[in-house]
Amino acid sequence: MVVLTWSWLALGKTAHGLLPTMATRRLFDLRPVYLRSFQFPTSRYRRGCPHHCRGLAAAAPAAPAASTLVKSNKKKKTDAAKPAAAAVSPDRLKKRTRSGAEFDRGLYRRYADPTRGHVPVMLGEVLDAFRSLRLRSFVDCTLGAAGHSAAIIDAHRELELYVGMDVDPAVHDKARARLDKLLVDDSRGSSLEAYTHVRNFKYIKSVLGGVDENLLDVRVDGILMDLGMSSLQVDDSKRGFSVLGDGPLDMRMNPQASLTAEDILNSWPESEVGKVLRDYGEEGNWKVLQKQIMQARTTGGLHSTNDLVELVKRVSSKSGGRQGWIKTATRVFQALRIAVNDELQTLEDALYACFDCLSSGGRLVVISFHSLEDRIVKQTFLDIIEMSDGDDDGDDDSGKNPSGLSVLETENEEHWSKNKIQGRQGIILTKRPITPTKEEEILNRRCRSAKLRVLQKL
Ligand SMILES: C[S@@+](CC[C@H](N)C(=O)[O-])C[C@H]1O[C@@H](n2cnc3c(N)ncnc32)[C@H](O)[C@@H]1O
Repeated sequence: MVVLTWSWLALGKTAHGLLPTMATRRLFDLRPVYLRSFQFPTSRYRRGCPHHCRGLAAAAPAAPAASTLVKSNKKKKTDAAKPAAAAVSPDRLKKRTRSGAEFDRGLYRRYADPTRGHVPVMLGEVLDAFRSLRLRSFVDCTLGAAGHSAAIIDAHRELELYVGMDVDPAVHDKARARLDKLLVDDSRGSSLEAYTHVRNFKYIKSVLGGVDENLLDVRVDGILMDLGMSSLQVDDSKRGFSVLGDGPLDMRMNPQASLTAEDILNSWPESEVGKVLRDYGEEGNWKVLQKQIMQARTTGGLHSTNDLVELVKRVSSKSGGRQGWIKTATRVFQALRIAVNDELQTLEDALYACFDCLSSGGRLVVISFHSLEDRIVKQTFLDIIEMSDGDDDGDDDSGKNPSGLSVLETENEEHWSKNKIQGRQGIILTKRPITPTKEEEILNRRCRSAKLRVLQKL
């Protein structure tokens, strides 16, 4: 039996201009609609069953093809084999495309959450991406500590409807408390309706339909996805996400999901464990790790993050040094987290769903934190605007046109949008993804791998 934990919270009180029926809607009106319209993935997954080795993906359409990932690995090897060009700036080598915006330290401090050490990543760039829009309705798919949400609510006084979602109830509750406080002090009062939900973002359509069924026709002006984990999750060793603190091998974003990292390590077939490490961790040493994990099963298995880290240390000791084992452990933890939460398939499904929910001229902004995520965002954006990708890494700045794409180089007021790609359904405003400023990288090391992409619906 799946327990529904989403919460329905009306932070504002009066009807949204676009949504006449919303103010009269009640929780008991909505709950049965949700119950009827969903088969939750957790109810279909059977623990340890090899045929469900994609964990939550069991309920979703086919997971990303292994061949795609293998192809990407090959591409990586080819790139690595190229001699490093002398006198090329580090930015160029890392294919960095910074937005060119000045880093705003005041903004960074204002929306940081000092009690929990959380800072919203690329906040200035996110605000820039929505700045030119009349943002009457906005969805934050990944509430986290609500840093981005708070800044957007403050910056867009025209906002009439705000919806925030997070799959993690603990994170959601903290974000909700922050937003409650913000909105109590907000001078707009009743002209802003605000709702938050504990929900996976792949169900965005259902959430919006629950807020008001007309919303699926009217749609929303802006959607943000800031992927990955919040510091609240990483810093809580009981969640099992951190390489550095000891805790259970859990790694579930949604604590009610049935699959944990411990299940994968101790009961999945050997070949599936290997695939997870290879495809989701892009870990070169995956075969040795796979063998060691099987070996550990003969002596009782792995039951804590320390057990796993010790195993990684033993395997990495020959390659040497703290950096060696930490890098490997980070890749192994990433791989397990992706598998436990079915992150890649969920992301792809959610990108299509989010685009469907956008109004004409509306924008979807996505921040990703590793190459597997970014590749999916890039490719799905191209698919959504109805274009095929001829430009394999998408980070090419040579000016060549990938087959069939209209690449627009424009002088415009949006300095961050240098090259655009126009398709039938939308415009990708960031042909190359935007990365954080150097200043932000220094202040927040966790942001270093962030890449931001923006898609606008036609
Ligand atoms: C990097 S944090 C977001 C931080 C936030 N933007 C802020 O300013 O504080 C990512 C959040 O997304 C949530 N999340 C991850 N996958 C999700 C999913 N499939 N559906 C909903 N939320 C998800 C995580 O629980 C986490 O709280």
